Amino acid sequence: MDAAFWNSRYAIASYYYGESPNAFVAATASHIPAGPVLCLAEGEGRNAVHLATLGHRVTAVDQSDAGLAKARRLAATRGVEIETMVADLANHSITPNMWAGIVSTFAHLPPALRRKVHADVVLGLRPGGIFILEAYTPAQLAFGTGGPKSPELLMTLAGLREELAGLEFLVAHELERDVIEGDGHIGRGAVVQILARRHE
Ligand SMILES: C[S@@+](CC[C@H](N)C(=O)[O-])C[C@H]1O[C@@H](n2cnc3c(N)ncnc32)[C@H](O)[C@@H]1O
Repeated sequence: MDAAFWNSRYAIASYYYGESPNAFVAATASHIPAGPVLCLAEGEGRNAVHLATLGHRVTAVDQSDAGLAKARRLAATRGVEIETMVADLANHSITPNMWAGIVSTFAHLPPALRRKVHADVVLGLRPGGIFILEAYTPAQLAFGTGGPKSPELLMTLAGLREELAGLEFLVAHELERDVIEGDGHIGRGAVVQILARRHE
């Protein structure tokens, strides 16, 4: 699923994953200390805009220029500014020791790239910085309520613990929950949630 796929998916007036932040991000955002936040594979900007309304300086990265154009529009309607960066995460480096928070929701990347990005996340956080992630697990394939159909793009708690070694896990679990987010996520789903901190 390349940039052309996502540009076409986002070529609608409405927000494919809704305008409200992801529920896990909304519930855990208060853990992020003051400072800049990086939203990875941020799509149409629902999390970035929410975090900006909380006072963070937010940078949203995604390969889809159509998604990030909508993110800027959403920010404008909420009276906040966000920085957007159109980039393939394969070619984007996360500045080390910079981020008070890094957020990743449903960023289902090929395994080699996912491992590289997560290694960069660990290094990219400032001491005390917070990483928030939610993604579908392989059990999601039975639900058919959203997410990729390729098992290798899905994430497990065990895999994430390895990829994010070095962080302190405050929340780390797999669960089933109702994921109702726009037209893209439409019901009961199997997800993994991570709230983790880089040691001071
Ligand atoms: C399921 S959407 C989730 C969007 C957003 N995180 C959210 O939860 O609303 C997946 C997003 O990942 C982005 N993405 C996938 N692979 C990417 C890559 N290699 N580099 C940058 N963005 C990528 C897509 O463009 C798309 O916007």
